Amino acid sequence: MERRTFLKTVSAALYTAVAAVVALPAFRFLTDPLRRKKSSDAFLRATPIDALSADRPTRVTLVADRWDAFIHHPPGPIGSVWLNPAVDGAPPKCLQVICPHLGCGIEYTPDRGAFYCPCHDSEFDLNGKRRHGPSPRDMDELPCRVTDPDETGLRWVEIQYTEFR
Ligand code: FES
Repeated sequence: MERRTFLKTVSAALYTAVAAVVALPAFRFLTDPLRRKKSSDAFLRATPIDALSADRPTRVTLVADRWDAFIHHPPGPIGSVWLNPAVDGAPPKCLQVICPHLGCGIEYTPDRGAFYCPCHDSEFDLNGKRRHGPSPRDMDELPCRVTDPDETGLRWVEIQYTEFR
């Protein structure tokens, strides 16, 4: 091999190595939001199951890390759910607070024994089934599970939080 050819080959290899050292971290940085696990895939710890009311739905606010593309925000409230009373330790029914109609917050009304949206008068039974009003569907149900006891003996309700907008 001629000396000139050898130097060209070595130079090209060095340039390629330097370009890779710069490009790989840049690629990883730029694609980070795409590679980050969506928060809706994760089960979030909501409340100890013993903290739920035994005779009426309990409203729980979920707290989690929040990402805005590349910006990380410290843990804060990301949404709320209604948890129905748990029966025999089974996971309680978990219903999204956001109304399927236009997104107002659904309330629980003990007088009616039902969920009620004050914005346009949609009403849902305790299983989230639509009774009347303009809501196009039942309340949205979210996946929910109960953990084994932790080191303090608490069993936690965990929820896979999603907003259906
Ligand atoms: Fe709930 Fe319209 S937003 S009924």
